[in-house]
Amino acid sequence: MNKKISNSIIYNVYPTSFYDSNGDGIGDLKGITQKLDYIKQFADIVWVNPVYKSPFRDGGYDVQDYYQIDEKFGTMEDVEELTREAHARGMKVLFDLVVGHTSDQHEWFIQSQKDERNEYSDYYIWNDDVFGWCPYKHMTGSCERNGNYLINFFCFQPALNFGFAKKTQDWQHLYTDEACCKIHEVVIDIIKFYMQKGIDGFRVDLANSIVKDDEDGKCSCEVWTKIFGRVREEYPEAIFVSEWGQPKFAVANGSFDIDFLTHCYDDGYNLLLRKEAGMNVFKSDGNSYFRKAGKGECKSFFNYFLENKAAIDGKGYMSVVSGNHDLPRVSMGRTPEELKTVFAFILALPNIPLIYYGDEIGMPYTPLKTKDGGYCRTGARTPMQWSAGKNAGFSETDGETYLPIHENYTTVNSEVMAQDADSLLNGVKALVEAKRAYLGDFTPEAGFELVQDAYPVVFKRVCDGKTFLCAVNPSEETYTINVPAGANVLASGNASIEGNKATLRGVSYLWLLA
Ligand code: NOJ
Repeated sequence: MNKKISNSIIYNVYPTSFYDSNGDGIGDLKGITQKLDYIKQFADIVWVNPVYKSPFRDGGYDVQDYYQIDEKFGTMEDVEELTREAHARGMKVLFDLVVGHTSDQHEWFIQSQKDERNEYSDYYIWNDDVFGWCPYKHMTGSCERNGNYLINFFCFQPALNFGFAKKTQDWQHLYTDEACCKIHEVVIDIIKFYMQKGIDGFRVDLANSIVKDDEDGKCSCEVWTKIFGRVREEYPEAIFVSEWGQPKFAVANGSFDIDFLTHCYDDGYNLLLRKEAGMNVFKSDGNSYFRKAGKGECKSFFNYFLENKAAIDGKGYMSVVSGNHDLPRVSMGRTPEELKTVFAFILALPNIPLIYYGDEIGMPYTPLKTKDGGYCRTGARTPMQWSAGKNAGFSETDGETYLPIHENYTTVNSEVMAQDADSLLNGVKALVEAKRAYLGDFTPEAGFELVQDAYPVVFKRVCDGKTFLCAVNPSEETYTINVPAGANVLASGNASIEGNKATLRGVSYLWLLA
C-alpha cells in the first residue's frame, strides 16, 4: 500500500482525444505533457489509456507490441519526457496494463497459432481439437493449429494463459503451472520496462478475470500479489489500480493500491449516476440518486461502500469515478449545477476520486457511429474542448479530428469557463482546492460517519479532533439539517447557514470544517 497517495486525485486522459501537439488531428503524448499544468489544477495522478502499438480495434486495448509506442501517440522519448515533466510538478503517471489478452496481431499469438509446437504455443489458452467441446468464450477454425482459443472480450483479443483455478480438462493449465508462471514473468518484464521509463504504476485492465473459473477472483489475487511483490522489491512505491469493482477482493487480497468502483457492480456505482435506461453500457433501468427528481437512493451504495471500506482500511483505497472511456458522460441529462453536486460528493468521500477528462467542464455525451471498437462508448471519447477557437483548441488540423467535436464547444470549453466564476470548471477547482488545503490529514481510513443516507446525504469524516462535514442535496426539494455552529465553510453551492441550521436548497452542497 502506497500511503503517499492517500489524498490524491486521479485524472484520466483518453490519449487520442486530449490534445494534439502535431496537427494530425489525433491527441498524443506530447499533447498530454503540454497540458500537465492544466491537469495539475485538478489532480496529481494522470492515468493514460493504452498508447502501445496496436491495430486499435478496441481503442488500444488490443496490444500488438508492449514495447513500442503506437506512432500516432509519439515515441518512447515522449514517454520519458511526460514522466519527467510530471515528476517535476510533483505528479505521477499511470499507464494501462492490458495483459489479460493481446491483439491477435501480436507476434506471440501469430507463433502460438502454428501447428508445430514452439516457445509461444502455451502463451494462450487452447483446447486440443477444433471439434472438442469448449464451454468458454472462444474462436474456432481460424488458424492451422487444431484447437480453439479463448478470447477475453472481442474476437481479436485472445486470452493470455494465466491458467485455470481448477483443472477439469486435459488441455487446461492450472494457474500455478510452469506455462502460466512464464506469463507472470512476461508481465513483470513489461511493468519494469515502463517503471524504468519513469511510469509510476498502472491501471490494470480486466484485473479480475485473468485466471479462469476463479471464484471471487482468489487465484487472480494470488497471481497479482506475486507479480506486484516482485515489482515492489525494486519499486516499492509502484501504484497498481484495478479494474475490478470489488475492493474487498482486489485491494484486500490482490495487493492492489486502489480499486475503481465503476459499472461492474450495480450497487457500487450505477445507482448514484447511471441507473436510468440508456445511461449505462450494461443495461439498467431506474432512478439515479443524483437526479433532480429525487427518486433515487444512496443507501445501497453506502452499504456496498462501507462493507468494502471495512475490508480494505489500512490496505489500500477505493476510487469513485466521474466517468471513464467505457461509460456515457456524467453530464448526460444534468445541468452544471447538478454536476457540481456530483463532484462535491465524490471529492468528499474517503476515497481517491477520479475525474475523466472533460467532466470538469461537463463535456457532453453524443451517440456517435462506432470508431475503433468504441460502439456506444464512442460518444464519451470526443476531443477535449479547450477553447472557442479552431477545432475547440484541440488540434491545428485542417482535416478531420479523431472524432467530431461537439457543437457546444464555443461555450463549453475550459478557456471560456475559466473566466466565469460560477462555471462548473471553477466549482470543481474550488472543491479541489478546499480538499487540498483542508483535508490533507483526513486519510481515507480516518473516522467516517454516515449521518443520513437520504436526500440530502450527510456524512462526517473525523481526524485529530477536527470534523469535516459534507452535505449534498441533488434533489430539487429544500431541506434543513443541523450543523455545528460556527463551523468554517470550505465550499458551498446554493446552501446557507444560520446558527446551527443549514438550508440546502434544491440542488446544493455544503462542505464544513469544525
Ligand atoms: C476494459 C476497458 O476499459 C475497455 O475499454 C476494453 O474494451 C476492455 N477492458 C477490454 O480490454
